[in-house]
Amino acid sequence: MADNAKLTLDGKTYEFPVITGTEDEKAFDIGKLRAQTGYVTFDEGYKNTGATQSNITFLDGEKGILRYRGYSIEDLSSKASFLEVAYLLLYGELPTKTQLSNFEETLNQHTLVHENLMKVFEVFPSGSHPMGQLMTLISALSSFYPDSLSPSKNPELVNLTIIRLLAKMPTLCSMIMKKGKGHPIVYPQNKYDYVTNFLRMSFGNVTDDYMPDKVVVDAMNTLLILHADHEQNCSTSTVRIVGSSHANLYASIGAGVAALWGPRHGGANQEVLEMLEHIRDIDKGDVKKVVAEAKDKKRLLFGFGHRVYKNFDPRAKIIKVACDNVLAKLGVNDPLLAIAKELEEAALNDPYFVERKLYPNVDFYSGLIYKALGFPTPMFTVLFALGRMPGWISQWKELREKNEDIGRPRQIYNGPALRPFVAVNDRK
Ligand code: ACO
Repeated sequence: MADNAKLTLDGKTYEFPVITGTEDEKAFDIGKLRAQTGYVTFDEGYKNTGATQSNITFLDGEKGILRYRGYSIEDLSSKASFLEVAYLLLYGELPTKTQLSNFEETLNQHTLVHENLMKVFEVFPSGSHPMGQLMTLISALSSFYPDSLSPSKNPELVNLTIIRLLAKMPTLCSMIMKKGKGHPIVYPQNKYDYVTNFLRMSFGNVTDDYMPDKVVVDAMNTLLILHADHEQNCSTSTVRIVGSSHANLYASIGAGVAALWGPRHGGANQEVLEMLEHIRDIDKGDVKKVVAEAKDKKRLLFGFGHRVYKNFDPRAKIIKVACDNVLAKLGVNDPLLAIAKELEEAALNDPYFVERKLYPNVDFYSGLIYKALGFPTPMFTVLFALGRMPGWISQWKELREKNEDIGRPRQIYNGPALRPFVAVNDRK
């Protein structure tokens, strides 16, 4: 066990307890810093701030490790189903066969959305961005379940609220996809598993009996698992901070969806595909020009760089292999894949990217798979949200079970000092 951390300020020494995590991650607990010294820490973007002690996900950005509840992302993405992973994240252990089938059955009983929610949905123009629709629909669920507004008093009600949200996500996401096409929505069928049901509702039609190919189901399953949690990223921190005010689950998750939408976060998967199309159509495939412009800070290379991964993103490694496999199995020959590989190669061999440790992230290749599966580009971030749902919910659940303090950072004020009020007629 490490000694306390010592801080010397204005000739006085203060001690702060050291906290050590399972994987020897270390922090010093500055909870009493301001009370004892009058100082706060300054850490724009929370690059060095541990906001919670969590049991859910372990990530080592230097070594490229990602684990959910101790299981490696490599094992989970190749051996488990998305619902097994969702169960693991939510309840802490992989389900037994019986637990899994009960979980699936319970979810299937909650897949329908209230017909009045459809009325909220109907008023969105067909060109509305899918993420704006998703954010609104999830927040609107709170109006349909008033019993969920302050659920922490009753664990069964908390669980029902969680089940409802998880069960309705595929229905909501595929409704949004259908609106983009101007097609009637397809209702869920309880005889199908979670992923198959989602794909049927997204790609089937009221006029046919579409069943997704196993290649497509497996690819979707892998992608959802890879996105299922990622510890304290921007959207998860948003969910936790909103949840810390004891806002209900739907409001907290709606806020997480808003955070995910941004192009520096989950919105990057849409940006990557649009960037690759731009390179193909406008830059005539000249990746060197694109890399040069990125180095001149004229543009970002979307899908490159990560706040935490400074070696490689293990999810990107898995997705790159999956991308090759899925496109080959589906017989898709997408010239954008060749451009993506050329761009990756050019960037990884350029000192600018090497020195800054900028590697492809989860969003770099995922869009190419989504495209090959048939999803329109504006839907990509919605698919990220569908995958991230168990992670967001687990983090919200953990926060509430521990009854963590309300999230409320401090600041350093740099605005004007006190000045006298000047009446409007006297202002120059
Ligand atoms: N293209 C070009 N230059 C980049 C990129 C990029 N994608 N990312 C970072 N850099 C440069 C920065 O300009 C900076 O250069 P400097 O040292 O000369 O000032 C340096 O690399 C360090 O970048 P930071 O912004 O400090 O890195 P940070 O950790 O704050 O940001 C982020 C990480 C936001 C992901 C950033 O890399 C980025 O914007 N990437 C593109 C968007 C993207 O793909 N986002 C998805 C991330 S994964 C996810 O959220 C699911």
